[in-house]
Amino acid sequence: MIKPLKKAVLPVAGLGTRFLPATKAMPKEMLPVVDKPLIQYAIDEARAAGIEEFCLVTGRGKDSLIDYFDIAYELQATLKERGKISALEALAPSSMEPGSFVAVRQQEPLGLGHAIWCARSFIGDDPFAILLPDDIVKSEKSCVAQLVEAYNRTGGNVVAVSEVPREQTNRYGILDVGADDGKLVEVKGLVEKPNPEDAPSNLSIIGRYVLTADVMKHLSKLERGAGNEVQLTDAMAKTIGDVPFHGLRYEGTRYDCGDKAGFLEAQIAFSIERPDLGDAVKEFLKKYTA
Ligand code: G1P
Repeated sequence: MIKPLKKAVLPVAGLGTRFLPATKAMPKEMLPVVDKPLIQYAIDEARAAGIEEFCLVTGRGKDSLIDYFDIAYELQATLKERGKISALEALAPSSMEPGSFVAVRQQEPLGLGHAIWCARSFIGDDPFAILLPDDIVKSEKSCVAQLVEAYNRTGGNVVAVSEVPREQTNRYGILDVGADDGKLVEVKGLVEKPNPEDAPSNLSIIGRYVLTADVMKHLSKLERGAGNEVQLTDAMAKTIGDVPFHGLRYEGTRYDCGDKAGFLEAQIAFSIERPDLGDAVKEFLKKYTA
């Protein structure tokens, strides 16, 4: 029987070194794209896939992420008193059902696999989604919802994948591909950040996963991989053969907001289609590109 997917883990313990000094005293996941923090994009996408329970894997200096999902009584009372209805409405997505949101700390930066292992009590035996909030995916249907649809058919593990230029394979988890219908691909193997000459394909994993709890027993060995870190990719690779494993060529565009250029592109992509901003954005794009 395929268990329904209700849980998501969001690793947010990273130091955000690529955005210093902006991230010296604030989590990078609170950086806004237009007017919404990165973390909110990930939560919205997960909710659109029917996910109801969330676990943030945080680190020191990241507590404002937890405050962000709390009730802001004074702010809300003041907005209400002043009749600022649209501002109040903007706060709604950051409210959480009581008890549906937990945070655990990854005390040491030992890798993505280690971060996910830190959420093992939250996961128990249930399937779960992972969303890396650095990646935002702009799509008609939530990317995680697309993964969930595939998972409901195939069971097992389903990861979101897209083709990258060969020379970039060393930035991603890369698939060794079996049967491929153009959309769903069977995963025969996985390698974390291989050099282009060693990469089994150019199909890369983006920061969206639906996994069964089977991965946890491999993570719990805390074996180090690429970069001397505990790699999620390595633990996932060990589940091949035990559970079905597929990559899904999702529909949508991914913006790597962990990278300055990707972050700036996302600002344009998300603002240009807004009724309140689109015309202004088009105007100044013309001005600066003329
Ligand atoms: C992580 C994963 C990698 C994946 C990538 C997607 O790498 O380890 O397999 O392709 O996220 O963004 P990171 O970006 O943390 O180096």
